Amino acid sequence: SMYLMNDRFVKDDEVTISIEDRGYYFGDGVYEVIRVYGGVMFTAEEHIGRLYESAEKIRMTLPYGQEEMIDNLSRLVTDNGVKEGHVYIQATRGAAPRVHQFPGEAITPVITAYTKSYPDDAPAAEPAKLKSVADIRWLRCDIKSLNLLANVMAKQEAYEAGCYEALLHRDSTVTEGSSSNLFGVKDGVIHTHPVSNFILNGITRRVIMQCCEELGQPVQEEPMSLEDVYSMDEFFLSSTTNGILPVSEIDGRRIGDGRPGPVTEKLMEAFEAKLP
Ligand code: PDD
Repeated sequence: SMYLMNDRFVKDDEVTISIEDRGYYFGDGVYEVIRVYGGVMFTAEEHIGRLYESAEKIRMTLPYGQEEMIDNLSRLVTDNGVKEGHVYIQATRGAAPRVHQFPGEAITPVITAYTKSYPDDAPAAEPAKLKSVADIRWLRCDIKSLNLLANVMAKQEAYEAGCYEALLHRDSTVTEGSSSNLFGVKDGVIHTHPVSNFILNGITRRVIMQCCEELGQPVQEEPMSLEDVYSMDEFFLSSTTNGILPVSEIDGRRIGDGRPGPVTEKLMEAFEAKLP
């Protein structure tokens, strides 16, 4: 299959990345993951909009515009014959001898993208178990940065405990997952962390909020405490790759009866109705 490199479509053996790329040295760049349903990218404008916002927040100017970016990614999806899968795109600040400060005008960002096709026979996801892990990330979690070391460490800790995802918390405040947003349901009200510098403003989260508005489903955008989450009636996470995924257990404590609850199921239905 083909890759996107800047504005060119190349085979894997034609991809050339400098050993001095600042993505490699510093994680100095930003990225997006866009889900493909039935051969069509879902919420591509929102994802590419966020990519350019992330780039701007790290004072990086991408070499071409959002429309051209979406066109290039659409072409990649079509040429690679992706039906169910996703597109990954990243942009680093570029290649230059290693100094921490920006290396100056001469540098141009390096954009790469690939597609991934999911197998036809992929089984439906089981309700997930979560493990609470201290959120030791920096204070700009609103930027979709390539620096994912704290996320990687948290996810690994969850995996080693037999869990699918980490439930990150700053002191007793629950923020988000290592690669997902988190939602609890208590007495018919959905609780989720407000959009701030402590979480990524998830595109799936935005679609969920839209669904809630259309369904008249009450949502309280206020941080949950660790103690709060254990006694939620329902819990779920959201991400581009998982959509809405019900949660059955947090730190070994059962949520509800461990099966997707009525509010979660109602939202999953509304979410699915929005897919291409
Ligand atoms: N992760 N929070 C974090 C820290 C994330 O990395 C992600 C997505 C989300 C959910 O955002 P969205 O709904 O826009 O995918 C929340 C992607 C999928 C990843 O890193 O693979």
